[in-house]
Amino acid sequence: MAERPRRVVAERDGPLLVEGPVEVVLDDGRVVCGDRFLVALCTCRRSRRFPWCDTSHRRRARADGPAADAAPEGER
Ligand code: FES
Repeated sequence: MAERPRRVVAERDGPLLVEGPVEVVLDDGRVVCGDRFLVALCTCRRSRRFPWCDTSHRRRARADGPAADAAPEGER
């Protein structure tokens, strides 16, 4: 039985979800490995764990309204 292609899911305003394990070659030539069955790759460059998503993209201001962090308590 033929192996199906590896699936990559692009989240709107979020990470790329890649079926693992993966090796990522960074722009400085370092290679990092992710061995989970699903790996979230940061596309916003805000992650403190880049290239892995740490959910920092959720703090990003939205073009259609204020950032979620700016909303008063109880309005989230
Ligand atoms: S995409 Fe999640 S922290 Fe960048």
